[in-house]
Amino acid sequence: MKTRITLLIATIALCTVAAMGQVINLPAPALNDTATLKYALENRCSHRDYDATLGISRQNLSNMLWAGWGFNREDKRTAPSALDRQEITLYVCTHQGTYRYQAEDHTLELVHKSDIMKLTGKQDFVENASINILYVCDKDLSASSEMSAVCCGAISQNIALYCASTGLKNVVRGSFDGEKLRQVLHLSGAQYILLAQSVGYPANR
Ligand SMILES: Cc1cc2nc3c(=O)[nH]c(=O)nc-3n(C[C@H](O)[C@H](O)[C@H](O)COP(=O)(O)O)c2cc1C
Repeated sequence: MKTRITLLIATIALCTVAAMGQVINLPAPALNDTATLKYALENRCSHRDYDATLGISRQNLSNMLWAGWGFNREDKRTAPSALDRQEITLYVCTHQGTYRYQAEDHTLELVHKSDIMKLTGKQDFVENASINILYVCDKDLSASSEMSAVCCGAISQNIALYCASTGLKNVVRGSFDGEKLRQVLHLSGAQYILLAQSVGYPANR
């Protein structure tokens, strides 16, 4: 019950910021839990049955985004990219709006105010996830589409392992309408969506 109230407050906080059209300052990442890498590897799996009533706290979101694609050195990140092009940007879709993860200052910038959760995939479960992450690639920065796909795989696996270490569930997805999402999010001609990833809490915990 306490967890649900906390998550509800986190969701209301996100919603308020969305209404104001502002940037969300994420709390500093705090990956100080005791889960081992072996535990995360043993528990990593794809999950497709989410509890639609549960949101992710800001702290969990902060930790997850930093683990996935945050800066762990002055100008380099937790995942590799070919020629250090860093051509991927994470878009975080919630029921309250879609945000762009700005790793430089560890913030979320609101880029779309309405709920596009359902649009992020072709499978019914996607709208029950707490968030859906879209991996947006900038062709102008990319060394090649293959190299960007590898980079995307590394980021999404970082996030999958973070999830497995904390009890969150996830699945990476190639099934989505990239063109529709491109239009809705007003992506530039150089940007395209490489991958999606649903994250949330399992139904019937
Ligand atoms: C590039 C890629 C695309 C995938 N696309 C989807 C998808 O669209 N929908 C889905 O439910 N699972 C998708 N998956 C998840 C796979 O189905 C899943 O990894 C596989 O069944 C093995 O299960 P596991 O991840 O639990 O080990 C995708 C996985 C990868 C690596």
